[in-house]
Amino acid sequence: MSTPSGPASIRRSGPTSRPRSWSDPRLRRASSPDSDFLQLDFTRPEGYAAIREWRQGAGRPMVVYLSVAAKIYGDICRHLEAGGCLDDESRVVVEKPIGYDLASSTEINDAIGAVFPESRIYRIDHYLGKETVQNLIALRFANPLFGTQWNQNHISHVEITVAEQVGIEGRWGYFDDAGQLRDMVQNHLLQLVCLIAMDPPANLDADAIRDEKVKVLKALKPFTDDMLGRDVVRGQYTAGTIDGRSVPGYLEEEGANTESHTESFVAMKTGVANWRWAGVPFYLRTGKRMPEKLSQIVIHFRQQPHYIFDPDQRGLAANKLVIRLQPEEGIALEVLTKDSGLDKGMRLRRGPLHLEFNSAFPKTRIPDAYERLLLEVMKGQQYLFVRRDEVEHAWQWCDNLIAAWEERDEPPRRYPAGSWGPVASIAMITQDGRSW
Ligand code: BG6
Repeated sequence: MSTPSGPASIRRSGPTSRPRSWSDPRLRRASSPDSDFLQLDFTRPEGYAAIREWRQGAGRPMVVYLSVAAKIYGDICRHLEAGGCLDDESRVVVEKPIGYDLASSTEINDAIGAVFPESRIYRIDHYLGKETVQNLIALRFANPLFGTQWNQNHISHVEITVAEQVGIEGRWGYFDDAGQLRDMVQNHLLQLVCLIAMDPPANLDADAIRDEKVKVLKALKPFTDDMLGRDVVRGQYTAGTIDGRSVPGYLEEEGANTESHTESFVAMKTGVANWRWAGVPFYLRTGKRMPEKLSQIVIHFRQQPHYIFDPDQRGLAANKLVIRLQPEEGIALEVLTKDSGLDKGMRLRRGPLHLEFNSAFPKTRIPDAYERLLLEVMKGQQYLFVRRDEVEHAWQWCDNLIAAWEERDEPPRRYPAGSWGPVASIAMITQDGRSW
């Protein structure tokens, strides 16, 4: 893979490699029995002729995977087109974040769109390639049990946590411009919200699914100024300990600007303003340097309308569906049963009905998200990729929040690495009588 300032590398695999003439001495190449490697400076239009030459007679569509900064996507696409490298089947794969806000994402999408039609643009959000994320579709739309319960009549609130132990992994330059909202919420968490909240698509076609996701993004509640202090918490980690290991604070990371107000943690209470979800809070939180790596969605069902068991057990009386994305992908439905034993009377006990994928289906390998996504690109299937209007509606919603933050200009709240974020993020949910 290349870096924004480095050379582009194009690799072709398969034992069918054949000798080619490389007319430009500035190009570097290498071959092995199962791959070709061509290195060129992607800012120089003249180098692209070598790709055309290299592709001649390949007999299969070209997939261009751009692992570079998004602002360069357009230039590369233009050079590929001008260099005669593309045909009607060529596809381009790009990574999030597409831009920094709505305006920049529009510019980038326009530039890619001037060369590739939407049907051949594959915008990766690698969360969509995760097994359990796709399972949300199966769980919701293949099981009548959930299908009939999936609305504000039966669900009291939804909780999504995407926690990471890692810090910014030497990516200060990128991360400090982005922050956790742009890096994680604008894409991964909003995609999860979409899959939980969307209406059933008419079928599994890419556009049928994406049309429904867009409706959710359009219905996301915008933040007003009075909600900021109450319903959104921004945090930044300080030095701390994770798994017994000391780790530096955000401002002590390599290359850090010690004045930075960039958030490495966000928690928020939001919602989807439509008939299905009216009045159901969606609590989202995501952060770096948390005590463990954990991505999970918890659907909290409402209490029974009339309660007949011991009053002191009232707090137990609600079902929870826990969808674990990582680690240990699985689904658990927490149900109440009678506590066993002669002395227990009708005391209740909570226990999970558990489906842990690794143990339930031991012979099935769970593929890596990228493995699946790249395969889908080759097959020409777009349902796991993000359409342009999804990206833009997601930015629109985030831009509104970022503008309000900028107006307030408050520093993020500190939290020690190895904790679950600022205390205020816990207060945010407990003020509603709930907990993470
Ligand atoms: C990336 C973000 O998209 O997702 C990273 O840029 C983050 O900051 C990563 O660490 C998390 O992915 P996963 O699959 O490990 O949850």
